[in-house]
Amino acid sequence: MPATKTARPIALIGPMAVGKSAIGHQLSHQLGAPFVDTDVEVVANHGSIAEIFASRGERAFRELEARAVARAIEDARGSNTVISLGGGAVLDSGTQQLLGQCTVVYLECDADTVAERIARNSGRPLLAGDAMDRWKTLFATRRPVYERLADLVIDVRSGSVPDLAHRIENALRGYAAAGTAAVTTPAATKEVEK
Ligand code: S3P
Repeated sequence: MPATKTARPIALIGPMAVGKSAIGHQLSHQLGAPFVDTDVEVVANHGSIAEIFASRGERAFRELEARAVARAIEDARGSNTVISLGGGAVLDSGTQQLLGQCTVVYLECDADTVAERIARNSGRPLLAGDAMDRWKTLFATRRPVYERLADLVIDVRSGSVPDLAHRIENALRGYAAAGTAAVTTPAATKEVEK
């Protein structure tokens, strides 16, 4: 792992219910890096997502979300902080630009993977009504954006959260070794110092 590379934040993107938060949390633990979930930041500062949608509308939510993402990326500069983004955050053009400062990992899945979690859906206003149908429609329109922004695409259709986090960590190391971005972890630093 080259010691001279500047560490970059790791941004996890992908559709609702793919597991960005759980996998991101585990990945950050493995890397010994901080974890930020931008939805959690929005909720902590402004109340539940369902309430924001109901009282102020989706547009207001998107503004708060874009600000939370910008703050997270700014704070994560020069580190491997893992940042989990809400499924629709990538639609904002400012966010798309800021993601250029991150290693962007797209968690790829299909409707079957998320069906069970979607069925238990709570707090996702965009899935109100026929959740599966809504999810499929949103995924179809957003998928090209996820693909375009991704530095790495990880298939998360099968595997436990730790398995998937290890898969991402390995992919990040391969990506760093290819000279495109750096992952600096206590283990990697040790390797370099040897
Ligand atoms: C949304 C995804 C949600 C949350 C909000 C809107 C979306 O985050 O930001 O309900 O537009 O896809 P998750 O992807 O973490 O569920």
